[in-house]
Formats: sequence, structure tokens, C-alpha cells
Amino acid sequence: MKKVYYIETFGCQMNVHDSEKMSGILKSEGYAETDNPRNADLIVFNTCSIREKAEQKFFSRLGRLKTLKNRNPDLKIAVAGCIAQQEGNKILHRTPYVDYVIGPQNLHLINKISTIQGHCIACDDNPVLADTDFCVDRKDRIKAWVTIMYGCNNFCSYCIVPHTRGREKSRPSEKILDEIEGLSREGFREITLLGQNVNSYRSELDFVGLLKHINRISRIERIRFITSHPKDLSIDLIHAVRDIEKVCQHIHLPLQSGSSRILKLMNRKYSYDDYIKKIEMLRKIMPDISITTDIITGFPQESNEDHASTIRALKEIAFDGIFAFNYSPRPGTKAATFTGHIDVKVKSQRLYEIIDVQNMITDRKNKAIEGTIQQVLVESVVTNGGGRVFTGRTRTSKIVNCPFDDSVIPSDIVEVKILKAKRHSLEGILHKP
Ligand code: SAH
Ligand code: SF4
Ligand code: F3S
Repeated sequence: MKKVYYIETFGCQMNVHDSEKMSGILKSEGYAETDNPRNADLIVFNTCSIREKAEQKFFSRLGRLKTLKNRNPDLKIAVAGCIAQQEGNKILHRTPYVDYVIGPQNLHLINKISTIQGHCIACDDNPVLADTDFCVDRKDRIKAWVTIMYGCNNFCSYCIVPHTRGREKSRPSEKILDEIEGLSREGFREITLLGQNVNSYRSELDFVGLLKHINRISRIERIRFITSHPKDLSIDLIHAVRDIEKVCQHIHLPLQSGSSRILKLMNRKYSYDDYIKKIEMLRKIMPDISITTDIITGFPQESNEDHASTIRALKEIAFDGIFAFNYSPRPGTKAATFTGHIDVKVKSQRLYEIIDVQNMITDRKNKAIEGTIQQVLVESVVTNGGGRVFTGRTRTSKIVNCPFDDSVIPSDIVEVKILKAKRHSLEGILHKP
């Protein structure tokens, strides 16, 4: 009988995509996937350690599955991802019912590891990761993630990622282009290039060169990328986003704080003035570009004045959307050793204020889209309270819902007239000129 695996993913898009890779490897080894952990011979948790809460969420989930192991001693439990890399064999002491610990640089070993009797830890650096080909089990048929680089060299003082994902490694351009050619043949329409800092991609091609080549791949209609580090956002890339037809007009450009003093403590390598200059450049060259960001509230030593600078920055820049989180000290990072940690209540109060200010801005920006015609890539048809609707995204990455029309099928790109803007989505009708 086929062995069965269950995989659960926490964290960012990179982890979601790593799970697709592990899933592909296991399927090619003859495993079948289940969505019920009770039926599984192998349970894989792909974990995230970006903030303490993410870590707690995983450990509480893991604890709840302990009874399955008691009932079925043959069940194998693998912990993969960033917590695996960070904790290594400490996980086995804390939760002895875990069998395997496998870091993000070693996920290609998931099939080998899962045949081993007894415990196994695979957390070594893997210098050939970027040259490794994966057979990916993608869950979506329209949009695909494609890794272009692994790791990070930036060592922002708060961040665990360079510690868990190792140094920056770019994948060979040819391998990326081959993969996307394959996706085009399979009928995918949109790809999102993944890396912690895509602007520092360097291989046979640089990042702009890579975008130009991908643009020539026939069935791919949309190209997106995350994440861009502000320090490396070049004028060439901005021109590329404007001029390369299939590249979408959206950029995620994490600011983190509006105070240059805090940015320095964060080791972000840009000041608020540097950042605002990039925003001005982006908007001058592409007035309609959508810009989103990440904000950390309550970084060590953040004063009321620093916090006020972040609020001012939000008002000045008027992002299309933000992801804001309380600062969470991560063991092993520089900021965790700083003095002046901020009280949890103050951090949360600042977070609420930031979210409130941004909500008003998001509402205002979305309202301005009412009445416009937007190109939407149809991703799915769903039934909700009001009947059947199709849903998709604009080129600027805003979610659009539209009453179902049987001339439309998922993977079509259609024109939609936006009638009503909500905070997290837009409502429209099919535009038939
Ligand atoms: N490489 C990307 C970000 C990856 S992590 C970049 O540099 O832009 C995603 C986001 O998590 C970060 O932008 C940051 O806002 C947040 N983050 C990272 N470490 C954090 C921590 N210790 N506490 C709170 N938020 C954190
Ligand atoms: Fe973390 Fe900074 Fe690297 Fe982003 S650039 S992953 S925030 S260290
Ligand atoms: Fe991603 Fe979380 Fe690791 S955000 S890189 S899975 S720490």
C-alpha cells in the first residue's frame, strides 16, 4: 500500500513554495498526500520562526498531534523550515516524539530522511542548494511561485532569516527560465519570483535581464516578484517595471520604520530620506503603481517621537497596504541583546494606532479606484451568500470580486468595471465594451 503524508505549512510564501517542493519529492517517491493527519504515515510541519507568536502557534499545534504518535508508534513526524534550522536537535529534547528535523537548505533530503529508523537531523549548510532541481507539486494551476534566490546577507538586526536560511545564493538564470517555460507549457498565466531581496539577484543575468527574458515566454501573462529591499531598488528596475509589458505595477518595499534613528538600529542601510526618494522616483515614473510595505512597531529604544515619525511616514507615503507587527525579539539576533525593550502594552497600542491610520488611507486609495476599468486575472469561481462570483486580482494586486458570467473561466484575463471599494477587496462587473 502507498505510504501517505500530511504536510502543514506556517510562515511566508517561501515556506508555502518549499512545501510544494517537499510534496513533489514525496509524490515522486510513491507517497500519496492526505489532508487528514490521522491517516498519515508521515507528518511534515514546515515551520516559521519570524516572530515568537509564529513559533508558539507551531509548538501548540505539534503538541496536539502527540496523541496520534501515541496511538500509532509507526507514525513519523518531521519538523522542517525555519524553526527546524534554528533549534536543531533542541527540538528532540523539547518534543521527543519528533523523528526528523530538516532545515530549509536540506529539504531535498525529505525522501531519504523519511526512510531512516530513529532520529535524524539535517541542518548543515548546503552550498549547492541553488543548483538543485526540484520536482514541484504546485497546488494552483494559474499562478506559480518560482524561487530565484535563497538566503539573505542583510542581517537586519531584528531578523532571524539570515540565521535560518543561510547566505544569499542566486539560482542559475537558465534553470529559472527553463522552469518558467515548463510552467507556460502547463498553462500557468502568472508567476511570482521569490527571494528575500530580489534586486540583488546575480547570475548569468541580473534581475532586470531576468525579467526581460521571462517577458518573452509566451503563455505567461503576468510577472510579479517579492521582496525588494529599498537599499537596492535601482532606477533600472523601476524603468523595467514600467517598460516590460508583463511585469505588474506593484512593488512590496518594506519600510519597517519612519524614523532614521530606528532604521539605523535595525541595520536597514537606508534612511527615511533615502526611502522617500525611492518612492518619489517610483511614483514619478509610474503614477499608478501600487506600493505595499511592512512595519515593525515597538523596536527596542523606539520613542514616542520615533513612533510619530512612522505615523507621519504612513500619511506622507500613503501605501496601498501594509503588514504591521509588534517587534518580537528573536534569539541569536543582535536586536535581542539591545537595551530599551518596549513594554508589550506600548507596542500593541502603537500597532493599533498604525493600523487605524493605514485603514483610513487604504479606504481612501481604494475608493479612488471606483469607476475605473481594471484588468483582472480570473483565479477562481466561488459561491458566496450573494450567489456565484469570480475572483481575481488587478495588475496592482488588489482582489476583485465580480458576479459570475458564463463567458468567463479561471485563467482568463478580463476587464472589470470597479463599482465599489471595500478595505480588502473591490467589487465590480464584467466590462464588455
Ligand atoms: N526580506 C524581506 C522580509 C522578510 S521577513 C525584506 O527585508 O523586506 C517579513 C517581515 O517580517 C519583515 O519585513 C519584517 O517587517 C517582519 N519581521 C521580521 N523579523 C521580525 C521580528 N523580529 N519582529 C517583528 N517583525 C519582524
Ligand atoms: Fe530579514 Fe532583512 Fe534579510 Fe529581509 S533583508 S530577510 S528583513 S535580514
Ligand atoms: Fe519565511 Fe518565517 Fe522563515 S517568514 S523565511 S518561514 S522565519
